[in-house]
Amino acid sequence: MVLKPTRREAVALLAAAAFCPRVAAAAGVRGLDAIARAKGMRFGSAVSANPRTGSFDNPAYAALLRADCGLLVAENEMKWQHVAPAPGRLNFAAFDRMLDWSDRNGMAMRGHNLVWQRRKWMPAWLEAHDFGGRPATEAARILTGHVEGVTRRYGTRVQSYDVVNEAVTPDTGALEETALSQAMGGTEATIDLAFRTARAAAPHAELVYNDYMSWEPGNAKHRAGVLRLLEGFRRRDVPVDALGLQSHLVTSGPDGSQGLLASQEEWRRFLDAVTAMGYRLLITELDVRDNGLPVEAGARDRGVADYARAYLDVTLSYPRLRDVVAWGMTDRFSWIEDFEPRPDKAPRRPCPYDDQFRAKPLRDAIAAALAAAPERAA
Ligand code: G3I
Repeated sequence: MVLKPTRREAVALLAAAAFCPRVAAAAGVRGLDAIARAKGMRFGSAVSANPRTGSFDNPAYAALLRADCGLLVAENEMKWQHVAPAPGRLNFAAFDRMLDWSDRNGMAMRGHNLVWQRRKWMPAWLEAHDFGGRPATEAARILTGHVEGVTRRYGTRVQSYDVVNEAVTPDTGALEETALSQAMGGTEATIDLAFRTARAAAPHAELVYNDYMSWEPGNAKHRAGVLRLLEGFRRRDVPVDALGLQSHLVTSGPDGSQGLLASQEEWRRFLDAVTAMGYRLLITELDVRDNGLPVEAGARDRGVADYARAYLDVTLSYPRLRDVVAWGMTDRFSWIEDFEPRPDKAPRRPCPYDDQFRAKPLRDAIAAALAAAPERAA
């Protein structure tokens, strides 16, 4: 479905056209994915299937994706809640359409996610399911059926999956429980089975554990819990290839940089430990919550860009990291506005482009960080 753009969107489309690869190349502006590819990396974004949100059905948004992205991820449409809204009812239509679009436009598509280890984000029917007299067997049947169903449906068209998302409780570092994992006899058993099933059904695919432990102060227990989980995978020989660093960054203090130095050191220690275990890294959901920064847009955008640049410089210095994915390209459609508005009610500015689809300092910061990153071996 292609919608006729509104007047506002038409203006935005013109702005975005400055970033269409052909026009942009003539103007000397290179797309983010092109800059990344020159270093052996890729750049991409989340996308949705709803034409009134960050969808390729919105022509202005499609122009941004074509200009800057070589890799996409469905913001919601592959989640278990979405593809299995009721027992026995499957709904792959939205993701099918997204994958067709990414194929037609020569972009890869990541799979997000097969199991979201949080009760709130599992299918409600599964949380209320009667697992019967042999609960572990029934839970294993449902879990393997889901993982096999999705991975076999898409075959080699999807080369990388967030197999398990957010299994660690940030405040304690302990593992989260869901009805499924309780029936299985524990979270580790559930997670391990999800990865083993994914490897058997999609042997071509990169299998990722994805979480939002970050570098900001207050994340120490979360990071420690993730490290324990990753160590456990290696001990139990669970097929996990990479850690997804969601990278929902949060500034603090009037210039955004409060605590930055300590954050950098702790973050390096964390990434050193993860890569020493042989895991690859991906940035899977990059955006910035502009907490503490002044309301004035110019100062806010600079603070966000400087903060992201510092984060990317440290994180991209690890050659095991090859993919950088933004959680949406424009402020217009960012999830943050609905989930965590600013206390002063000023609209959030978390993405590389503003709500009129104009490039912001954050886009420049990402471009500069990619350009400055060490080249990855072929
Ligand atoms: O599509 C329905 C619509 O029919 C309904 O009228 C409306 C009413 O609330 O809801 C719509 O669904 C919303 C959906 O986004 C699509 O817009 C859900 O309520 C809303 O909860 C859902 O939020 C998503 C959230 O994950 C939960 O799935 C956000 O868009 C998405 O950005 C967010 O993404 C997560 C990653 O998957 C994991 N990491 C954190 C990240 C940010 O929270």
